[in-house]
Amino acid sequence: MSKDFLETILTRHSVRHFTGEPVSGDDLKKVLKAGMSAPSAVNTQPWAFIVVTKKKLLDLLCESLSYAKMLDKAGAAVIVCGVPDKDKDYASKFWVMDCSAATENILLAVHGLGLGAVWTAVYPDEEKIKAVREILKIPSEIIPLNVIPIGVPVGDERPKDKFKKENIHREIW
Ligand SMILES: Cc1cc2nc3c(=O)[nH]c(=O)nc-3n(C[C@H](O)[C@H](O)[C@H](O)COP(=O)(O)O)c2cc1C
Repeated sequence: MSKDFLETILTRHSVRHFTGEPVSGDDLKKVLKAGMSAPSAVNTQPWAFIVVTKKKLLDLLCESLSYAKMLDKAGAAVIVCGVPDKDKDYASKFWVMDCSAATENILLAVHGLGLGAVWTAVYPDEEKIKAVREILKIPSEIIPLNVIPIGVPVGDERPKDKFKKENIHREIW
């Protein structure tokens, strides 16, 4: 593993303060490519991504999601959605894990591009799912898992050191 890549993982952190500058289409494409490169159970890829850059829609999401107020200064948002019906044996069981893997890839790609992002919760809160569905006109077979505001970081947030020996259940070398 290259040092740069490990450094990207270790320094990724939630960014909740953005300058309000836009995010380029090129960067958003790279971010989506990273999301779609994630592993999924039996490679079912039970996901659907929505990219929002329109200020009006970002503001509507901001008004409806109490823990996503940073959307007011985000340049874009990616909504990671699950499609459980894509496959009856695997997608229905594993879509949350698959979409979470895609989300982490997106967060890492954003950080690697010098931008900032944060996972904000939608699923499994029924009210939040309904609100996001209505604003973005998402059909019932697609379930929004989260909203990821993306933007240019103001620069006042830092990664936390989360390595804890007590979180290792057992070491067997
Ligand atoms: C499932 C999940 C839901 C989260 N929901 C929110 C949220 O609604 N709003 C928010 O500001 N951060 C949210 N976060 C971000 C966490 O607060 C953050 O990842 C955690 O505090 C660790 O900080 P770090 O990302 O900087 O390492 C969520 C993270 C996860 C994994």
